[in-house]
Amino acid sequence: MQRVLGIESSCDETGVALYDSERGLLGHEVHSQAEVHRKYGGVVPELASRDHLRRLLPLLKQLLERQGLARGDLDGVAYTAGPGLSGALLAGAAFARALAYGLEIPAVGVHHLEGHLLAPLLESPAPEFPYLALLVSGGHTQLVEVTRPGVYRLLGESLDDAVGEAFDKTARLLGLPYPGGAALARLAETGRPGRVRLPRPMTTRPGLDFSFSGLKTAALHAWRARAGTALERADLAREFVEAAVETLLIKCRLALRETGLRRLVAAGGVSANRQLRAGLAELAAELGVQVYCPRPEFCTDNGAMIALAGCLRLQAGCRQSLDFTVRARWPLPELESLGAPRAAAASEADGL
Ligand code: KG4
Ligand code: ZN
Repeated sequence: MQRVLGIESSCDETGVALYDSERGLLGHEVHSQAEVHRKYGGVVPELASRDHLRRLLPLLKQLLERQGLARGDLDGVAYTAGPGLSGALLAGAAFARALAYGLEIPAVGVHHLEGHLLAPLLESPAPEFPYLALLVSGGHTQLVEVTRPGVYRLLGESLDDAVGEAFDKTARLLGLPYPGGAALARLAETGRPGRVRLPRPMTTRPGLDFSFSGLKTAALHAWRARAGTALERADLAREFVEAAVETLLIKCRLALRETGLRRLVAAGGVSANRQLRAGLAELAAELGVQVYCPRPEFCTDNGAMIALAGCLRLQAGCRQSLDFTVRARWPLPELESLGAPRAAAASEADGL
């Protein structure tokens, strides 16, 4: 297995990337659909599917041109098979599977969260295994023990909203355009501290689960009750970000203590957050553990993480036949674990 094309289309970003099993990432391209969805205040699934279909081929051409490569130089194709929006996933999966069929190369479906969990391996230095991953995105908030590629243990997760969802909804409450998470974090940097108090949900209880819907609702109540106070948008944003980040840090501390793991990795779109990254660095320094935060473009959705995870799965002999499907819901514990890598040639002819 040499050059693997990765395709990401689970939500509102179209990502393509080329990963070389020997040389690492060769290049990647991402197209964000934020403009398409902005006027609706959130992702419109049907528009997302259509835009993926429109963008995939031009993005692939651009990627190959920039690398001075042709389609014939590809040795395998990996695509996000779930979880995500069904139509959006199908657009990427059908494109990927058809391309692999036409080129007579193998294809493999990848779990989107496995992509996020392995994204730090795109960086140098890459973390060694095992590590604790804090996976924080628009759809998930999880603490995962990553033993090695393909072997994951879910330690805790949000019982309701994902932290990214709480960021986006609070941003909307404060009139910020979709997708509001990053804009809310920027606004927070101009806010005054201590002007309002929001809860740090579930932090006084043992266990590694989270809950963010109460924090979002508390922000809503605080905003509605602001009449006659000097509370400004930026002040509420500041307290919201502090409450969310502090909550995540408290659970990371607990997870490190309970597992004894010495490496902490941040993954998913919310880990692009500057305040969270600073907090994780501080926590790691205090506890004497190593922290790894991939650059922000590898935290948010991208094709590079899918190409990398797909390359590892293809090397281990995983293949998706023409009888492919996608899974809108796909709990991480249901992901098939990966055996030790075996010679790819053994099953090169399968599933073409
Ligand atoms: O991983 P991702 O790109 O897509 C999903 O798989 O969900 O994560 C997107 C989430 C959104 O909720 C977005 O608002 C949030 O990540 N996000 C941020 C920041 N950048 C992206 N949240 C807080 N601070 C940021 N800087
Ligand atoms: Zn994601």
